[in-house]
Amino acid sequence: MRTLSTTLRWCRCFWVASEPSPTATDDLLSLEGVGAGYGTMQVLWDVSLHVADGEGVLLLGANGAGKTTLLKAISGLLPLKSGSIQLGGARIDRLRTDQRVKLGAGVMTEQGVFPTLSVEDNLLLGAYTLPRAAVAGVMKDVYQLFPELHERRHDAVGSLSGGQRKLVAVGKALMCRPQVLVMDEPSAGLSPRYVKEVVAQLAEVRQRGLSLLIAEQNIAFLELADRVYVLEGGRVRFEGTVSALEGNQEVREAFFGLGGP
Ligand SMILES: Nc1ncnc2c1ncn2[C@@H]1O[C@H](COP(=O)(O)OP(=O)(O)OP(=O)(O)O)[C@@H](O)[C@H]1O
Ligand SMILES: [Mg+2]
Repeated sequence: MRTLSTTLRWCRCFWVASEPSPTATDDLLSLEGVGAGYGTMQVLWDVSLHVADGEGVLLLGANGAGKTTLLKAISGLLPLKSGSIQLGGARIDRLRTDQRVKLGAGVMTEQGVFPTLSVEDNLLLGAYTLPRAAVAGVMKDVYQLFPELHERRHDAVGSLSGGQRKLVAVGKALMCRPQVLVMDEPSAGLSPRYVKEVVAQLAEVRQRGLSLLIAEQNIAFLELADRVYVLEGGRVRFEGTVSALEGNQEVREAFFGLGGP
């Protein structure tokens, strides 16, 4: 029996992509043949990944598989060595991070949350790409979505619980009115109870039609996913629906340490 907090177990194992990519025409975010790394060290190799409008996509992989590196490439913190990235049909891989945010690529980073500032000031910082006149309306939406944050709006983020801090990070990313919300391990540092809460809150966000791309090692987040990519050694080793992942014996064994169905 797996619990929500089950962290993926990993054994070295190779498998092939089980399903073809969806057609490029439905894609909101689309990566083709992406290669990237640090200096002369290449980490990502020929990664193609697609997120359709309104879709939830989970990026799984063991420590060091390249998940964060891929998200850095998407957000513009790391230049590509090869390949391309499109958002809403436009090439974004040569744009600055703020330009990508403006076009709809919202990124949730915990490092981007300032513990000494209030909840509200953190949210305001997230709105840096918005026209001034739009800020109050978007903040109202975020507070409607996360009433807890409204209650604590004048409190320093450092005084919140881990789960609430996570919501501030999500709320801050939502302040730029993204089309796709990209998240790196939202479960990091959370107890199972808070993981459950954060998943439930993100499910609300999804209901509103926002696309999600979540890098995770915690299978609780499968609940938010239509499709899954598994990275290994910087390459896509599996891509398919959640049910294809669950029905794939090799993946079950490699990721969940489970035998037969
Ligand atoms: N700033 C960096 N400079 C050099 N190498 C790096 C840097 N960041 C990551 N790497 C290397 O890139 C590879 C992929 O790391 P990455 O952080 O993308 O993995 P990850 O899948 O996010 O792992 P985790 O689950 O531990 O967060 C690793 O071999 C790592 O050592
Ligand atoms: Mg990482």
